[in-house]
Amino acid sequence: PDRRPLIAGNWKMNGLRADGTALARDLAGRLAAAGSAGFDLLVCPPATLLHAVGEALAGSGIALGGQDCHAAEKGAHTGDVSAWMLADIGCSHVIVGHSERRHDHGEDDAAVRAKAAAAHKAGLTAIICVGETEAERDAGEAEAVVARQLEGSIPQGADAVDTVIAYEPVWAIGTGRTPTVADIAAMHGMIRRRLHGLVASPDSVRILYGGSMKPGNAAEIMAVADVDGGLVGGASLKADDFWQIALSV
Ligand code: G3H
Repeated sequence: PDRRPLIAGNWKMNGLRADGTALARDLAGRLAAAGSAGFDLLVCPPATLLHAVGEALAGSGIALGGQDCHAAEKGAHTGDVSAWMLADIGCSHVIVGHSERRHDHGEDDAAVRAKAAAAHKAGLTAIICVGETEAERDAGEAEAVVARQLEGSIPQGADAVDTVIAYEPVWAIGTGRTPTVADIAAMHGMIRRRLHGLVASPDSVRILYGGSMKPGNAAEIMAVADVDGGLVGGASLKADDFWQIALSV
């Protein structure tokens, strides 16, 4: 199946209005100058910047996404943002189950699954993140951990349109370390096989790699079978780097 690569920038808790909108405009300008691209671009700014960045991206073809959502549509959940609110402000995507959410906020697979289900109900594509810790990899449990996360985190009825998987080994996030291409190939192949039975059209689901992706390593990672793009953190804050990564597909 033809899986159009997706290059997603997760800005995490970075950016004030001036830098966020400047970055968005810079990316929009590059895509416009390129004319056409063989990939989809997505940026996921912090919630405070969704409105301004959405305006800066209007008509650019670059998609807007949230970094998290609550499982409920609305209600007494101080500080949270619902998937419906993200859709209302112009998001088409939302990241759920990022390891920083799993770690900092104690989100388990059931919580992630509920958030992804809410995203689907609100009409968003959920980017469901999975990945092992260093201790789990050292113990030889990486594939078992990721398989368990997939089974626990993907909601009923998921398909290739509303669901993207991001494999992010926790020990590779923000560390400058990446798995070998052989390890990435093995994990992405396992994820593809496991998706059979968990989603409709499993061969059309995009599986992103995330963790210390940079211009210098993106091409070799993107070339791996079953790597259908990237979820880029630190390097997505620099237009040059993010664009170079996108051009590596
Ligand atoms: O969501 C993005 C990942 O956590 C990767 O972050 O590119 O800064 O390592 P990083």
